[in-house]
Amino acid sequence: MDWTSFFRSELTPIRPYEPGLREEQICGIAQTPSIHKLSSNESPYPPFPTALEAMQQCLPELNRYSDGSSYALRQGLSAEYGVPLEQIMVGNGTNELLMLLAQACLTPKSRVAYCWPSFIVYRMGAQVAGAVYDELPLTADGRFDTDALLRAITPDTKLVILCSPNNPSGGIVMQEEYERFMAAVPDHVLVVLDLAYTEFVTESEHLAALSCYDGVRPLVVFHTFSKIYGLAGVRVGYGFAPVPVIEAMDKLREPFNVNTVAQVGALASLGQNEELERRRAENALERTRLCEAFDRLGLAYFASQANFVWVFVPEPEQSFEQLLKRGVIVRAFPGGGGLRVGVGRREDTLATIEAFDQLFGSEA
Ligand SMILES: Cc1ncc(COP(=O)(O)O)c(C=O)c1O
Repeated sequence: MDWTSFFRSELTPIRPYEPGLREEQICGIAQTPSIHKLSSNESPYPPFPTALEAMQQCLPELNRYSDGSSYALRQGLSAEYGVPLEQIMVGNGTNELLMLLAQACLTPKSRVAYCWPSFIVYRMGAQVAGAVYDELPLTADGRFDTDALLRAITPDTKLVILCSPNNPSGGIVMQEEYERFMAAVPDHVLVVLDLAYTEFVTESEHLAALSCYDGVRPLVVFHTFSKIYGLAGVRVGYGFAPVPVIEAMDKLREPFNVNTVAQVGALASLGQNEELERRRAENALERTRLCEAFDRLGLAYFASQANFVWVFVPEPEQSFEQLLKRGVIVRAFPGGGGLRVGVGRREDTLATIEAFDQLFGSEA
């Protein structure tokens, strides 16, 4: 078999997603027994207690298929956000929803615009569809550049993605910028707002998730249970969109795309505002602690509203290896000039700061 021309040529440039390293992968490298996994922007805490209990209770029912319409969860989301049921979609992580949307909209001639660096799945979705992707620089302070995105729109542009807070920089789009952007964006463009980290935001000027959403204008808003809700392992994300968008995506969606444990856990996580607030405050405290250490060490970083901080270091690849030896797993992106350091619990912060002190402190 000659495999070289067997597969779709659009797949040639795609590099499979490389997940952050896991604890067990660095056992032979780390010179310390305590490992701090800060590489995948996960929550350092378990799922909410209500979610854990609900998920445990549903285990005996796993002989049945999951609810293919995620009805109860969509009802819960509808009550929580005041968005009609038929405008709500649920996916096997936001990741699945982003890929479905790309498949549903993009063709080889069409274009998608977003800023870069950002979430790799935006690029993958475009590549799988063979579409053109316009990757524009972030602002100097690591935020999506809404003016540049507006200027990049052409008659062939179908999607413009905004990520706020952005992964990996942590920068946000402010309400006023967002409103200006939404007022100017032409109506042949579907705007995709990815709010995966929005629950960590403490800045009051951050855009409000549903402020421009009316279920009619071309706007999709994505959220996930993978981050502050601590449900990354079961995979569940959701989105709000006009009905035609959801109908198109439903044609491509697997019939039982969200498993029962995920649906039950996500539903039981809703309305837990005290727990949510506690986790947001905890994250902000540890984020500040990390940034204070970077300040002390003279390391520049992007002001972050998420659960990670992008810090500029002289030789990122080498620093990444050095941190691994000290049991701290972060993320280096090729050519990125820095490291994305996840915000964890207090003990993770202390270990990270100690390792950074050893690498970049005056004694180093
Ligand atoms: C910006 C952004 N959007 C979406 C996702 C996808 O989240 P999930 O597929 O776990 O819901 C991630 C995950 O890291 C992300 O960083």
